[in-house]
Amino acid sequence: MIERDHWWPVALDGDVGAAPLPVALLGEPLVLWRDGAGAVQAFADRCPHRGARLSLGAVVGGQLQCPYHGWRFDGDGRCRAIPALPGFAPPVSHAAYRHAVVSAHGLLWVCLGTPAAPAPPALPPLPPRRVVHGPFDVATSAPRAIENFLDTAHFAWVHDGWLGAPTHAEVPPYEVTLTADGRPVVPDYPAWQPRATASAQGGAWVRYRYEVLSPFAALLQKQPEGDAPADAYVMWTCPSTPETCRVWFVQHTTDTITPDEALRDFQSAIFAQDRPILESQTPKRLPLSGGEAMCAADRLSAAYRRYLRAAGVTFGVC
Ligand code: FES
Ligand code: CO
Repeated sequence: MIERDHWWPVALDGDVGAAPLPVALLGEPLVLWRDGAGAVQAFADRCPHRGARLSLGAVVGGQLQCPYHGWRFDGDGRCRAIPALPGFAPPVSHAAYRHAVVSAHGLLWVCLGTPAAPAPPALPPLPPRRVVHGPFDVATSAPRAIENFLDTAHFAWVHDGWLGAPTHAEVPPYEVTLTADGRPVVPDYPAWQPRATASAQGGAWVRYRYEVLSPFAALLQKQPEGDAPADAYVMWTCPSTPETCRVWFVQHTTDTITPDEALRDFQSAIFAQDRPILESQTPKRLPLSGGEAMCAADRLSAAYRRYLRAAGVTFGVC
């Protein structure tokens, strides 16, 4: 499964405190914790002794202590203590299973396999003010969630009065290009939006630029007409299981006035409109080999599905 060789976000940098934090990635339970040096570690959430969930344990003296028999593991995964045998030096084979974890874009990223790239996807220069929205735990697959983010034809219906209106339901012909490595891009899409941003004073034409960053991540840049603030949203998705995902929207904005809370309220309102539709879609896995009707307005969805097929993605698709 090629997805194992990608980096995926599993938590925000600040989410890992004194207690172990359980997360799921590609169907595997993981535990994140901070070792004695302050570094975040990602282990399989399964003790090598009897399979108990390490995330039910505690961090003691910079080591992760299993809740069942108290075995303790250091940041390298080595078992350092077996309380039932105080004089025993545990062998290397008693180690917990450790995965690579890095920090980037304010998030922690894990690769379960052999990293195909040294780091998570890079971002172009974006406005410096960053506001994180989420996490949102969504009962659908990561590719269904990303496809919704790339879809403009639903604005008039799902986001009526906000990002669209039935009077402007038409999707004009728009161009989809590909990056050198085959990722779909929509360089310019004009959308009429009654309330495009938290600070919008009325309807405006907004120029959208979409870029798929990885199989389950995408960037949207929004430039309203006039001198209204420009926004970029990065949708980072953790493919937790084949039919559930965890989503963060990281907003970069030139808006220096609107408080964080108002920006969060706006994005939460938008996502609350998307969520019931997203979670109603069946199948929850994104169909890559037909089975759903396509029209010309769906050309970005079609390009995204072709990209997933070409990339050999098998997780969360059918
Ligand atoms: Fe973890 Fe026994 S199951 S110490
Ligand atoms: Co939407």
